Amino acid sequence: MDNSIKEVLYSEEKIRNKVKEIADKITEDYQGKEVLLVGVLKGANMFMADLMRQIKLSVNIDFMAVSSYGHSTESSGVVKILKDLDNSIENKHVIIIEDIIDSGLTLQYICENLLSRKPASLKICTLLDKPERRTIDMTVHYKGFNIPDEFIVGYGIDYAEKFRNLPYIGILDRRVYEK
Ligand code: PRP
Ligand code: MN
Ligand code: MG
Repeated sequence: MDNSIKEVLYSEEKIRNKVKEIADKITEDYQGKEVLLVGVLKGANMFMADLMRQIKLSVNIDFMAVSSYGHSTESSGVVKILKDLDNSIENKHVIIIEDIIDSGLTLQYICENLLSRKPASLKICTLLDKPERRTIDMTVHYKGFNIPDEFIVGYGIDYAEKFRNLPYIGILDRRVYEK
C-alpha cells in the first residue's frame, strides 16, 4: 500500500500538533457556549475523533454523510446527502468539521442546507484546504494547512475508498489513478 504514496506531506506528529492548535482556538472562542460539532463523513472521521478529544468544552457531536466524488478524482458537483443529522441544530452553535476543501461545492451545499435550519451560529473547520481549486467564495474559520493541488490521501481521505486508514497524509502516486 505504501508504495502508492509518492511523498508524505504531513506526518502523524505534524497533524497532531496542528489538530491541538485548532482545538485550542475553538476552546478559546467558544468559552461559555455549548458547541455542536458536525462531522462530514466519511472523510472527516479521523480528524473529528482527534479534534474533539482536544477541545476543552462541553461538546455535542453529530454526523452528516455526503458524497460528490464517488470513485472519481473530480467532484461531480452533485452533492448527495447519504445520512442526515440525527437532531435539530436550531439555536445551536455549530461547527462543521471537514477533512478537506477542494472545489468547495460540498461545503457550499452543506452550509446552505444547515443555515436554513436556523443555528445560533455556523462556522467551518477544515484540516486541509486547496485554495487554488476553489470555484466559489467561502469563509473558512479554522484551517489546518493550505495544500498544493495534488491528489492526497490518508488520515480519513480516500481514493476510491482506499487509504483512509493511513495515519499520515500523503501524495498519491499518479500511477494509481492514471491508467
Ligand atoms: C471529499 C472530501 C470533502 C469533499 C471536498 O469527500 O472529504 O468532503 O470531497 O471536495 P469539494 O470541496 O470539491 O466538494 P467525498 O465526496 O469524496 O466523500 P468522502 O468524505 O466520503 O470521501
Ligand atoms: Mn468528504
Ligand atoms: Mg472521498
